[in-house]
Parts: sequence; structure tokens; C-alpha cells
Amino acid sequence: MTNILDTIGNTPIVKLQKIDERGCGEIYVKLEAYNPTGSKKDRMALAMIEEAEKRGSLKKGMSVVEYSGGSTGAGLAFICSLKGYKLRLITADVFGKEKIGLMKSLGADVEIIKSEDGKITKELINKMINRAQEISKEPNTFFTNQLKNKDVIKGFIPLGYEILDQLDGNIDAVCDTVGTAGTIMGIATAFKNAGCNSKVIAVEPSSSPILSKGIKGSHNVEGVGLGFIPEIYDSKLIDDVITVEESHARKISRDAALKEGIFCGTSSGMNIAAAIRISKKLGPKSRVVAVACDTGLKYLSEGLFDN
Ligand SMILES: Cc1ncc(COP(=O)(O)O)c(C=O)c1O
Repeated sequence: MTNILDTIGNTPIVKLQKIDERGCGEIYVKLEAYNPTGSKKDRMALAMIEEAEKRGSLKKGMSVVEYSGGSTGAGLAFICSLKGYKLRLITADVFGKEKIGLMKSLGADVEIIKSEDGKITKELINKMINRAQEISKEPNTFFTNQLKNKDVIKGFIPLGYEILDQLDGNIDAVCDTVGTAGTIMGIATAFKNAGCNSKVIAVEPSSSPILSKGIKGSHNVEGVGLGFIPEIYDSKLIDDVITVEESHARKISRDAALKEGIFCGTSSGMNIAAAIRISKKLGPKSRVVAVACDTGLKYLSEGLFDN
């Protein structure tokens, strides 16, 4: 490998060793923290930029704009600075300080929107989107627009193929939380193309069950549960939607760190919690995959590991 961009993807997968749950089968965790900025979003950031370059909608000298909770923003900042594009990111004060610091350290110009009560809500996400939209009207500006950009799925299809290769296609279910839905759509597309009949389970916070019950709410699981159904979410590719309590997801993130040495964020804890529940349902011979979306290092200041 000669280029840091070649280190995106091909992340390891590990089997949980210490689960003490009756009737639970094997749980495999895909470690996306191994990507250069510590999250799975490097995959889609690269796809959004390189597909736009190929189409000619992004050219030398242009600026890029995006709204982000921090993961996509860091991935884009990393790629834009390598490729020489100026990047403007709109984020909000509900996301971890580490994520905002990372976006800035990688060269992005970051604008922070104030939330009403420190929670992630549909209204706050819409404010971020509207501001990015406003900036996108400036000349020579390319809006990656992650919630409407199909290249996001393209970026995550290899993640699905990697899981299939790593587990020899022998998978009963895969669990993943939904933000843009890019990851779960990418995995589902790869599984479908490969003829794998594993169940694809979407996971969302209990307090904002938009996909399962059509109800929006508020929570602090960064990157997921936006309070509306994302445009690229195709329910035909999803076998089931389950909800997980945020407090349980947080406990599982702490357990993963202490018992398994897997240091990941809240959405990852939610995926592992969902995988354990699904595995118990499918029985002790089942093999279930959870995506560990990013590194726990991004959640130190928000207190995920404090108790
Ligand atoms: C930490 C984290 N987990 C999960 C997700 C959801 O992934 P996706 O947008 O592919 O649905 C995101 C999205 O930003 C995220 O930042």
C-alpha cells in the first residue's frame, strides 16, 4: 500500500469471548474503528468524493459542504485535505467534543448549531441540513448531502462482502443501527448479491422508534435515530426492526470495553445488544454479526465510560 486511502476498509472481525447469556450463539463484531479516522464513515466519505470526481461534479478548486454529527465529517475532512478541497462542516453541540476536535484537526471549517436541550431531535438535524443547503448555493461548492446521496450505499457494499468473506458466508443475522441507512443498505445489497439469506436487522433507540412504530423522539445515541425515515432506507431489504434502550446500549459499550477489549461508541453498543437478543432468539447454534461503528475514544468527554 502506498496511499493512506488504501487503508480504508478491510477491517478485522472478532468473536465475543465472554458473553454469559443463556441460549446465545456466536456473536461476531466488525471493528470499524480500524479505519483511518476511527469510524466506518471513512468508507462512504471516500465514495461520495470519488464518485463525484468521476462524474465531474466535483473539480479542483471547489469547496465541499456537509452536515455531520462528526463521523462523516471526520472522514470527509481527512479525504478533502488529502485531495486539496476546502471543506465546510455543519454540526451541533450535542455531538462529542472529540469529533468536533477531529474534524477541525483534519482541516475542516466547522460551524456548530446550538440545540434546545442537548438532545438529538428531528428539528436539530433539519437545522443542520438547512444551513448546509444554504452554503451549498455558493459558487464552486459541492454538497455531498449524505442523506440523499446513493454513493453512500456504494461505499458500504464492500463492508458486506468483507463480512461474508470473513465468516465464509455462514451468517444467520446482521444487526445495524440506522442514521442515513447507508451502512445497512450496503450490507443488505452485498448479502443479496451474494445470495446469502442472512436476516438483516435494523436497530433504533427505544425513545425514537420511527422505523418500527413511526414515532419520533429524542436521545443521545450519536449518528442514529434521526427522527425521520431516511430517503435511502429501503424496507424491502430489511427483515426486522428492533429497538434497544439507550441505557442498555451504554452498558453494553462499557461491558465490551471491560470484558472483551472492544472499545467502541454507543451505536456500536446498541448493535451488540441487538445481536445478543437476536442470537438468543435464533438459538445457541446461531452466528450473528454486529457492526462496531467507531472507536470509544470519540465518547470520552460525553461520559459513555464514566460508570
Ligand atoms: C457513530 C455512528 N453510528 C452509526 C451511524 C449510522 O450509520 P448510517 O448513517 O450508515 O446509517 C452513524 C452515522 O453517522 C454514526 O456516526
